Amino acid sequence: MKKKNLCEILENEKIADNIYRIKIKKPSEDFEIMAGQFLNIKCGEGDFPLLRRPISIGLADKDSMTIYVNKVGKGTEFLCNREKGEFIDILGPLGNTFNMNIEKGNVLVVGGGIGVAPLLELTKTLSSKSDVNIKVILGYRDEPFIVEEFKKYTKDIIVVSEKEGFDYKGYVTKPLEKELKETKYDEVFACGPEPMLKSVNEICKEKDIVVQLLLEERMACGIGACLVCTCKTKKGNDDWKYVRTCKEGPVFYGKEVIF
Ligand code: FES
Repeated sequence: MKKKNLCEILENEKIADNIYRIKIKKPSEDFEIMAGQFLNIKCGEGDFPLLRRPISIGLADKDSMTIYVNKVGKGTEFLCNREKGEFIDILGPLGNTFNMNIEKGNVLVVGGGIGVAPLLELTKTLSSKSDVNIKVILGYRDEPFIVEEFKKYTKDIIVVSEKEGFDYKGYVTKPLEKELKETKYDEVFACGPEPMLKSVNEICKEKDIVVQLLLEERMACGIGACLVCTCKTKKGNDDWKYVRTCKEGPVFYGKEVIF
């Protein structure tokens, strides 16, 4: 059972429309975090006891961890309104992690919306491997965010937006298809809204490229007890089973997931 921790907010900054970067002090130095994991954060107090909200960890270092929060409802609004010096109740780190065993080759990292956030720690980790070349495709509905943070770990970044003025207009699938046609990639990593993940998965399947997907499922307990977050995965050729995104995931290989 993961421990609940009260953690101090070190910084809270609005970085784009409804997007907040919140830096939190780790409860201890041995609070180890790996790319893909999330925190289940209590988003209410007193007469406002909302459920916890699962928030992916965007970056972590020895003393702190940074989350990126999309203010979309009362729970996330509560979180985004917390100020420096306040404490929040977190449960975690939870979930599995990306498999980052690749030591050599080309990888493509594809994120959409707030799903770009957990790919930052992944890109940081992969960038420490000298024989791994990383290209990142970041997709947004309008204003891009945390592109500068990604630039610390790779220079190869394609920014896509439904708005004019960036590398591509539209969806991440367009540059993804072009990249996979022009370059031999060994592995793709993706996180974003379900329709995006479904398309990324299909495109990678066609090209026979291994893809790891971080699913952003609705969650409640975050520890495998309530079954709110179940999704269908393949078991054998025609067989399937339910798994808990919070416990067996949130990262799955594309070939396992049934959309
Ligand atoms: Fe409760 Fe996954 S959120 S089982």
